[in-house]
Amino acid sequence: MRDQWYVAAFGREVGRELFSRTVCGESILFWRTGDGRVTAMSDRCVHRRFPLSEPPSHLVGDTVVCGYHGFTYGADGVCVAVPGQTRVPRTARLRSYPVVEQDSFVWVFIGDPGRAGETPIPRAPWLDLPGWTTVSGMEPLPARASLLVDNLMDLSHETYLHGGYIGTPEVAETPITTEVDDEAGIVYVSRRMADAACPPFYATSTGITGRITRWQDIEFTPPCLYTLHSRIAPVGVLPHADGTDPDAFHVEVVYAITPETESSTHDFWAVARDFALDDERVSDFLRESNRTVVLQDVAALTVLERVLTGEPDGYQELSINIDTGGLAARRMIARLAAGDVTVAAGAR
Ligand code: FES
Ligand SMILES: [Fe+2]
Repeated sequence: MRDQWYVAAFGREVGRELFSRTVCGESILFWRTGDGRVTAMSDRCVHRRFPLSEPPSHLVGDTVVCGYHGFTYGADGVCVAVPGQTRVPRTARLRSYPVVEQDSFVWVFIGDPGRAGETPIPRAPWLDLPGWTTVSGMEPLPARASLLVDNLMDLSHETYLHGGYIGTPEVAETPITTEVDDEAGIVYVSRRMADAACPPFYATSTGITGRITRWQDIEFTPPCLYTLHSRIAPVGVLPHADGTDPDAFHVEVVYAITPETESSTHDFWAVARDFALDDERVSDFLRESNRTVVLQDVAALTVLERVLTGEPDGYQELSINIDTGGLAARRMIARLAAGDVTVAAGAR
């Protein structure tokens, strides 16, 4: 799906080294200028296609010098010098991409750059906000992005695939409610467990020993940004009437689902919490645990991708109540892909 913003990297991945990542099949070069701005341009030299991220290509000030024959490009992708002649051909420019750094992510716009301004970038403010501590990472997923969307929209799989980490029987047992805001382009899926076992992921990080009230409120802004608003509190502890919620623990689990190719995905994940902010042991534990959970999904989806690739088209899936959110997400993605502006330019 083109004409969309996608997360290409964490801001920390891009510095004064040449960095390359493929988004929607396009190989993109990232680096930071001397004053700290992130640039995004094609990672293929216009001369003979040598990747500009590949040594001995290198930065000189705010220009990148191709390591093959020395074509030199500015931060806007325009070629400023070629070897052996003073005249630089007018067409010697790299495709440059609209790029925005926000909420600790580097977002790039794939498709018609003229549409970037009118296409809102969804927010994940907790990842870069005082009062929250975040751990994060990215796992390469050798499967199509839609499989990760399905996976994240239906958390009943936590009980089976992630038992011992975040899954307990109540997740699969508790029905969901699904809401679709077509104008804003958001799918909401909610599962609220009044009295549930506390999985190790939350028991160890919060210190709660007994049973919990556990809320899972999903907010997915197709195609790329998914947030699970997770609320954990001792059984029966609810937010106050004025909306404050001082006795609960809040975790924002954010995923950015970025297609690399038709059959591979960048699985960006982040876990932000509003408790134990300076506790390194809690950070280490949540980082390791979430990474393990993500790798469990990666393993399962890798198998699924293989199955789907080897099967003829037209297989009829069977869907049940738990799939309502995933099916709503698929419908919205299909509309975006068809260029439906009522979703694409909605009031996100
Ligand atoms: S391929 Fe880059 S200068 Fe020749
Ligand atoms: Fe999962």
